[in-house]
Amino acid sequence: MIDLFEKLKKNRGPLGEHAKDAHGYFTFPKLEGEISNKMIFRGKEKLVWSLNNYLGLANHPEVRKADAEAAAQFGMALPMGARMMSGNSNQHEQLEQELAAFLGKEDSILVNFGYQGMVSAIDALVDRHDVIVYDAEAHACIIDGLRLHMGKRFVYPHNDMTSLEKQLERATKLVNETGGAILVITEGVFGMSGDQGKLREIVAMKNKFHFRLFVDDAHGFGTMGKTGAGTGEEQNVQDGIDIYFGTFAKSMASIGGFIASDAQVVEYLRYNMRSQIFAKALPMPLVIGALKRLELLRSQPELKNKLWEITNALQNGLRKEGFEIGNTQSCVTPVFLNGTIPEATNLIFDLRENYDIFCSMVVYPVVPKGIIMLRLIPTATHTIEDVNYTIESFKKIKINLAAGKYDVNKIVSI
Ligand SMILES: Cc1ncc(COP(=O)(O)O)c(C=O)c1O
Repeated sequence: MIDLFEKLKKNRGPLGEHAKDAHGYFTFPKLEGEISNKMIFRGKEKLVWSLNNYLGLANHPEVRKADAEAAAQFGMALPMGARMMSGNSNQHEQLEQELAAFLGKEDSILVNFGYQGMVSAIDALVDRHDVIVYDAEAHACIIDGLRLHMGKRFVYPHNDMTSLEKQLERATKLVNETGGAILVITEGVFGMSGDQGKLREIVAMKNKFHFRLFVDDAHGFGTMGKTGAGTGEEQNVQDGIDIYFGTFAKSMASIGGFIASDAQVVEYLRYNMRSQIFAKALPMPLVIGALKRLELLRSQPELKNKLWEITNALQNGLRKEGFEIGNTQSCVTPVFLNGTIPEATNLIFDLRENYDIFCSMVVYPVVPKGIIMLRLIPTATHTIEDVNYTIESFKKIKINLAAGKYDVNKIVSI
């Protein structure tokens, strides 16, 4: 027997073991000031490429005004209780209807956090007779939803349609025995690599197999498609997405999310999704703030146009300079370099301290050993000067990396 606290002190977890060296700098950094392309880190202004504030709505004057007025009028407490018991409001229902109409779905249901909403929706939608088939690079919220699933789950390698077909064959055989159903889960835009889920191919498989498709479009909502209705619109298969998930935490620059589908499915979720039945409703200012953000998202296409102008300049510029940016088909911009983890930390330190550029770094085990991935999120608040400066700086750090400048065989002290 071991004391639980003793055990936790000994094994701090795969991320926690780096806390001593990384806390406050590489992990849990504090970005201060107005949310924009430039923010303050450790007292000094940095050019920031780490925020999912895609459309620049975080500090849009109309958004700030709507948030402040709603907080002044309603406070943060209303509504009290879960939606089902005492926490419903006209504004919550209006937001659900407007989201559904925007996405071309019959209805939608709000969730308090995107992550929790996905977990709970997966839990509610399937039972032990059903089979889930999912992409291997699915976000943690999908993986955690799968952990609650009592039936079988079949995984296919990322975007591998041949394997998906095989898994659907297996799943079909199984549900023919159990009398269950099949749910396929993928993402619209994969948040790390930026490539899109192959929604068109998946939807086409409905001609051969019977399944329903659930798409997590956290990074696609507001950024993809002609109107910003997401990756389904982008690939012209919005109707083939049976259940659509979007978050308010990215292009909407807020918190919360929603799931849109057929009216009966949404009603089923309203009465069966445990994370919403047994939790207090989203506070009124978040709902009214989301209504304002949705209005701007729909009525100001120039925000998305600007986002894509910056995205295209950044991605084309990086490619032109010989950077490896993988297969991105969205605003998410990975930059792949070769190096060790100590080199990655020294490189990020150099970027932050000497070039005043703040971006996220991803290393093993998220990417293969020996790969350093810098992840850039362009937004409508960035400028072409920001893009040019960043590419020039990246050229220099790439030369430094190749020359072994970051290879001091130890993690920098911060
Ligand atoms: C693909 C994906 N799904 C779900 C989520 C969770 O959304 P939220 O931040 O609203 O909880 C994220 C956020 O990182 C995400 O990238």
